[in-house]
Amino acid sequence: MKSQRLQTNVKSLKGMLGVPGDKSISHRSIMFGAIAHGETTVGNFLPGADCLSTISCFRKLGVRIEEEDSAVRVVGKGFEGLERPVEMLDVGNSGTTIRLMLGILAGREFEAVLAGDSSIAKRPMTRVVKPLRELGAVIDGENDGKFTPLTIKGGKLRGISYELPMASAQVKSAILLAGLQAEGETVVIEPTKTRDHTERMIAEFGGRIERDGDRITVKGNQMFRATHIEVPGDISSAAFFMVAAAITKNSEVKLTNVGLNPTRTGIIDVMKQMGADIEVETLKKKGEPSGNIIVRSSNLKGIEISGDLIPRLIDEIPVIALLATQAQGVTVIKDAQELKVKETNRIDTVANELASLGADITPTEDGMIINGGAKLTGRTVSSHGDHRIGMMLAIAGLVAQGEMDLHDPSAIEVSYPGFFEHLSTLID
Ligand code: S3P
Repeated sequence: MKSQRLQTNVKSLKGMLGVPGDKSISHRSIMFGAIAHGETTVGNFLPGADCLSTISCFRKLGVRIEEEDSAVRVVGKGFEGLERPVEMLDVGNSGTTIRLMLGILAGREFEAVLAGDSSIAKRPMTRVVKPLRELGAVIDGENDGKFTPLTIKGGKLRGISYELPMASAQVKSAILLAGLQAEGETVVIEPTKTRDHTERMIAEFGGRIERDGDRITVKGNQMFRATHIEVPGDISSAAFFMVAAAITKNSEVKLTNVGLNPTRTGIIDVMKQMGADIEVETLKKKGEPSGNIIVRSSNLKGIEISGDLIPRLIDEIPVIALLATQAQGVTVIKDAQELKVKETNRIDTVANELASLGADITPTEDGMIINGGAKLTGRTVSSHGDHRIGMMLAIAGLVAQGEMDLHDPSAIEVSYPGFFEHLSTLID
């Protein structure tokens, strides 16, 4: 809970950086490694608290997992090899862990109890509980399964066709993971395309999956073969340094080996549209694409960010809001009501913390309106226990005048261990 002094009034950022592995892909590499047959190896795994929660939960399900920093070995025994956990499955702060794991457990004939920290306890679970019950799982929990702790008793499942009421890759993935164990076919229909790492990984592990427009179909009783997964750098982590370079004077930063899956690159499109000096060098096109991103100090202008773009940059909105405070003109972010149910209510935490530094920012029902050209002044701010709020505020500090302290900086460990060390290597 301690505080950390942030670097303020920075003159220039220069250098090259490889950000840690992608969080979404790291979680899935453990999960698919566990449900596949044989030994899966993972390179550049993200050893952040969230992904370590996934590892610890799968160990409690009887899966052997060896990890040394970013190299992981998972000894998979198939869906059928998962064992009844004798302890509660603690997901910590990780929404991806609990929602995807529920999909896997929906097809297992034993009971498991899942819970996490105080943030997880506030996050909506009906979105996964409802479709998994339709498939045939028995789930109980606080307020009829709206909230954790949840108890799940899986068993024989029957495929369903399910239209997602919200754009959520976590819900889509949970249904697909249950569908892989169900009798017949399971179809998920997305309102807007969301990150497709689960779909790519099903194929990578030798499974079959079809996509036709907004409909994704899987057949049950599939077998997966172990493989090697090389995780690209996380664009959601790179985003903090992309924005940092754009808003700091005399800066040029190169981020190497960043994941460039098109369902995740909304931030690049937005920065280009705002007039940022940004270059992308694509290096790998197959599987999960990746490449280098170079950003220099930029003259930025405000834009509207809405619609299909939102799921492609949902986790980057806190730092995009900061970017908008440094642009000329107005930026309007809408259709982003999902921000309310992230690690914190990110409409409120972003608007309150940036306003306290002097930004002109108004929260709305589904986003925020930002009048750019703000001069930020340092003060004591808080991550509110939310990793992305903590990192966004550390980047805000670079362009703020005066002293600035960040309360609860340890939240950053969830997705970016070593964040402050990386940031200090760029400061000239
Ligand atoms: C994630 C999906 C997104 C994202 C989260 C990770 C995933 O959540 O915000 O950080 O790995 O599937 P939703 O699917 O709930 O929007």
